[in-house]
Formats: sequence, C-alpha cells, structure tokens
Amino acid sequence: MKIAPLTLAFTAAVTTVAAMTAAIAQPSQESRAMAGQAAPAPRPGDADGAFVALFKFSEPDGAKLYARVCAGCHMPDAKGAKGAGFYPALAGNPKLTAGGYPTYIVLHGLNGMPAVGRMMTDQQVADVVNYVRTHFGNRYKDAVTAADAKAAR
Ligand code: HEC
Repeated sequence: MKIAPLTLAFTAAVTTVAAMTAAIAQPSQESRAMAGQAAPAPRPGDADGAFVALFKFSEPDGAKLYARVCAGCHMPDAKGAKGAGFYPALAGNPKLTAGGYPTYIVLHGLNGMPAVGRMMTDQQVADVVNYVRTHFGNRYKDAVTAADAKAAR
C-alpha cells in the first residue's frame, strides 16, 4: 500500500495549516483591547499585593523592576555585557548624571533596547530610574518623579 503514507502526510499537512490558521485568527490581547473589547481579567501573578494594570508590569518597586525587566540585558550587577550584543553598564555610567536621559531611554528605547517603559506606569518608570541612579555605585540624589516620566512620554 503506497497510498496510506501519502494520506497520512496530507492529513498532517492539513492539520498543521488548520492549526496555523487558528493561531493567526486568534486576536492578541492587545488588539482586543485596542478594539475596545473586553480583555481577559488580569492575573495578579506576583504583584506582591501592589497594583495590577493591564499590559503593565506588576512589580511594585524599582528594585524588583530592575531585577525582572532590566537585569536580563544589563546584568544583575548592572555592569552590562558584551558578546552577541552589547549591553552598556549602568553601574558608574556618567550618562545617568541627568535623570532625564535614563528616563527617556526607558520610555522610548534605544536601538537594541526596547521601550520597556511603555509597559510601566509613570511611577514605575520613576522608581526604576531612581533605583538605578542610587545603586550599583551610582549616588545621584535628585530623584525623578512620576510627573517627569509623564512629561517624557
Ligand atoms: C532587551 C534588552 C534590554 C532591556 C530589557 C533593557 N535594556 Fe537598557 N539598553 C539595552 C541596549 C542594547 C542598550 C544600548 C543601546 C545603544 O546604545 O545602542 C541599552 C541602553 C540603556 C541606557 C543608555 C546607556 C548609555 O550609556 O547610553 C540606559 C540608561 C538603559 N539602557 C537603562 C535600562 C533600564 C533602566 C532598563 C529596565 C527598565 C533597561 N535598560 C532594559 C538593552 C536593554
């Protein structure tokens, strides 16, 4: 019987195409929200009892935001990394002298860095920038405020 394997292959191909079509047809959470339709309720996750906003990070403070959002690229010690890509150090980086610069980068991204601040509240942007500017050997006392972050959006 030569037909059986062919039939099987055909069935598999049809199943794959059907699965792909279903995946494409499934609107993303974001597109549903943009269309004004009800999105699934947010899951508290590890919001630490703080606040949860749709499409926003739920981390309640700068330290946690740094650990979960920035450290993957800039490294937990903020010394950056070189390899397949280049991730600048935030430790001892003179470009953090003015709070406006890191605030802007977090909100708008820069080349290989995504605009992660779009998924943060104004306060979270300020918190993570203030955290970076007061840790890893950085000692900048002038804190960035939520209003600063809002103005830089
Ligand atoms: C996906 C990886 C990635 C993540 C996540 C990320 N960054 Fe970056 N970041 C980069 C890269 C790459 C650059 C360098 C971009 C360039 O100069 O072309 C950069 C640049 C920066 C700069 C500018 C440094 C300089 O010397 O000009 C700052 C400030 C910064 N990031 C802060 C943060 C903070 C704070 C977070 C977390 C809220 C964060 N980044 C998350 C990859 C990342």
